Amino acid sequence: MTAETVNVAIVGGGLMGREIAAAIQRWPALIDHPVRPRLTAVCDINPAAMEWFDEIDTVVTKTTDYHELLADDSIDVVYVAVRHDLHEAIYRDVIASGKSLLAEKPFGIDGAAAQAVLAAMAEHPEAFVRVSSEMPFFPGAQLAIDYVKSGALGTIVSARNSFLHSSDLDVNKPINWKRQVEFCGEAGVMNDLGMHTWHVPLRLGWVPETVYGVLQNLVPTRPGPDGSPVPCDTWDNATLHSWARHEGQLFPLTTETKRIDPGQKNTWEFEAIGLDGGVRFSTKNPKTVSVFTVTDVPGGGREQVWQQIDVGSQSVWPTVTGGIFESGFSDSILQMWAVFLAERHGSLGDRFGAARPSEAALTHAIYRAAATSHAEGRAVAP
Ligand SMILES: NC(=O)c1ccc[n+]([C@@H]2O[C@H](COP(=O)([O-])OP(=O)(O)OC[C@H]3O[C@@H](n4cnc5c(N)ncnc54)[C@H](O)[C@@H]3O)[C@@H](O)[C@H]2O)c1
Repeated sequence: MTAETVNVAIVGGGLMGREIAAAIQRWPALIDHPVRPRLTAVCDINPAAMEWFDEIDTVVTKTTDYHELLADDSIDVVYVAVRHDLHEAIYRDVIASGKSLLAEKPFGIDGAAAQAVLAAMAEHPEAFVRVSSEMPFFPGAQLAIDYVKSGALGTIVSARNSFLHSSDLDVNKPINWKRQVEFCGEAGVMNDLGMHTWHVPLRLGWVPETVYGVLQNLVPTRPGPDGSPVPCDTWDNATLHSWARHEGQLFPLTTETKRIDPGQKNTWEFEAIGLDGGVRFSTKNPKTVSVFTVTDVPGGGREQVWQQIDVGSQSVWPTVTGGIFESGFSDSILQMWAVFLAERHGSLGDRFGAARPSEAALTHAIYRAAATSHAEGRAVAP
């Protein structure tokens, strides 16, 4: 099989831009992938941010104006990782150029921005668009998803998906764009971390019928550029208690997005419990998936048991990595790109894919419902 060469450009050479550039360099780890991406261009308004990309010898274009990339016929796919207030304009321009887009979450600063991007997609169906959300590509997360899809839960009791940081525990950490409504959006931490907690539930068909939002702004000011306090007006923590349906049965679905959860560094957790079975996975112990069963214990009676499985390295797309080896964040990014480019190529089949624009747009409706709920003290339908 001859792989199709796809030229990739990155807009926004910050934290995520570099992570994606590094992931693409590891492409040969994927077995029999139908596409071979080459990172050929990078754009950042800050020229210093692009210096790092000199490490990558396929990069032939560096520019401070992304329009230059959109006018370049050699570029097929654009990954955009910039501030949330910039998403709508840049995503729409990429889509209007007919190029494919891997958009960073939250896919626009709010619901109106997301809808405007969907409208641009409707006008340009040739542009293939997906949204970045990599945590479900941890092998343990995939096992948990497959467990739920197998029907093993039986009558569902509850489910929870969380993304937990404590990156803002230090109240003297200087302000940055992610902590300001103007740039991050009114949904605050939900805009930052919410896609991570909704990709799997929405893909499992767990669309919330009502949402009760519990939101906290724990640190209302932070040091500004000159050290004096400036407003830090975004929500830090958000817990959303929802009612959703699994196989027709209503159940409580909880999602948590926390910037201040002392002790947590970057933890994604998924748990689903039913009368017949249960499954738990946390990136805190990324090798381990726990499954629940009721079983006959030799020499004992019938007992409830949580059992631990070591999951190894394999996720959605097979890799050369030994099956018993460990997997991490960078591997999940590589897997997300593998499924994004495979789906664009028409080769993903029924495997778990990257988050869809419609799912991202729905998250904005969920965040709005959560904010209204928090303000009014009642459950709200998204
Ligand atoms: N998927 C994930 O796990 C994950 C993690 C962190 C951030 N993100 C998302 O990625 C996006 C960017 O976050 P980040 O942490 O990389 O931010 P960042 O601040 O580290 O980087 C953003 C970069 O964009 C550049 N930029 C600003 N305006 C630009 C423009 N008009 N054209 C080109 N470049 C421009 C900035 O100079 C900066 O280098 C956000 O949407 C964020 O929510 C995703």
